[in-house]
Amino acid sequence: MDRRQFTVAGLAAGLAAAGTATADAATAAARAGTAFPKGFQWGVATAAHQIEGNNVNSDFWLLEHLKGSPFAEPSGDACDSYHRYPEDIAIVARLGLSTYRYSIEWARIEPEPGLYSQAELDHYKRMADLCRHYGLRPMATFHHFTAPRWLSASGGWHDPATPDRFAAYADRITRSMGDLLDSVCTLNEPNGPVEAYGERLDKPVPGEDLLAMLAAKAAGTTQWSGFGLGDVIKTRDGMIAGHKAARAAIKANRSSLPVGLTLALTELVAGPGGEALRDHIFEEARRPFYAAVKGDDFIGVQTYTRTRLGPDGRLPNIEKTLQMHYEYWPQALEATIREAARESGCPVIVTENGIGTEDDAERIRYTDEALRGLRRCLADGIDVRGYIHWSLMDNFEWLEGYRPKFGLVSVDRKTFRRTLKPSARHLARLARSNGAILG
Ligand code: BGC
Repeated sequence: MDRRQFTVAGLAAGLAAAGTATADAATAAARAGTAFPKGFQWGVATAAHQIEGNNVNSDFWLLEHLKGSPFAEPSGDACDSYHRYPEDIAIVARLGLSTYRYSIEWARIEPEPGLYSQAELDHYKRMADLCRHYGLRPMATFHHFTAPRWLSASGGWHDPATPDRFAAYADRITRSMGDLLDSVCTLNEPNGPVEAYGERLDKPVPGEDLLAMLAAKAAGTTQWSGFGLGDVIKTRDGMIAGHKAARAAIKANRSSLPVGLTLALTELVAGPGGEALRDHIFEEARRPFYAAVKGDDFIGVQTYTRTRLGPDGRLPNIEKTLQMHYEYWPQALEATIREAARESGCPVIVTENGIGTEDDAERIRYTDEALRGLRRCLADGIDVRGYIHWSLMDNFEWLEGYRPKFGLVSVDRKTFRRTLKPSARHLARLARSNGAILG
């Protein structure tokens, strides 16, 4: 494995050299019947708050700066992608991928209730335009954890007005750039809060407990959009209502625009005596979402690891523990694709899958292993339409700050210079061969 880092400029030459081998592999794979289906999407994902920088009107920015905040560090300039998005989209295009999944920041579009910023709508429209210019398929997420401060201060997803507010925001976006978008994820991982609390629905995990206290002090609310503090069942139901309202608003503008939501899915595994807890998590954190997405155009599967459960909660990791405390378990992708397809009845797009590691060779191994599982799903006739890797670049990993490295591209924290890692070139070769080079 060539582990040298290389730059965007050197990429084209590398890809050209890989071209012949790729074509041979593709022919062999087609003969063996192992190729991915024609039109299968290969992509990378990002989220606004994690890469744009200076998202000062968002609830997370406020939390990051509170005294005693459990965030390892504030997001600050992030990767300055708000200004450097042309460079980022160019990288995705040069890698030969088909899809760029990014998110639109509600706090920028609607900085005060009912006040919409035309300039910010234009900003995100330019992003979609640029994707189209390169022949990329722009997949926009309308809510990736963060929300405007004012929304969380008014109770966030616990406020009965929020689903309609979200739909009004979705309507603005669709009217402004719906014709350019290729697909929409309404909400990112709305099952996350209830899933995290699932092991003990009545007891928040310690970090979130502290956040709940801080949020209450700062804004008089115990609900915070991305974390869903406090009553997570109420948060879940508010988000489900939000998804449905937004979907209707989007479809009213452009009925042909594919809409789905994404779910945080670990492979749930019961150790001895862990069956009841596993079933409880499934019933509270997954089944209501699978019911809500019936009839959607796709379901977004987001998988990183497995969760092993005993009678009293999570069991310790067996395999290597990664940067985000996740267990190395690429097999989870196959299990969660099968679950999501079976339970939702929707076509599947893997909207996130990746690994937080300093070891880029490990990222390549993990991705290949996960993709082999995806390929087995395809072989069994499951309708999987794409694989979108998390993430394009190293970014702000929420509470953990900039330490975890999920990127195919590294970002210099001072100069913001982007440098492609070997894993970026590897995904490029996979995409260009439509999966044929996968061993
Ligand atoms: C989230 C991303 C996050 C990733 C890695 C997903 O749950 O959607 O925002 O960076 O996991 O932890």
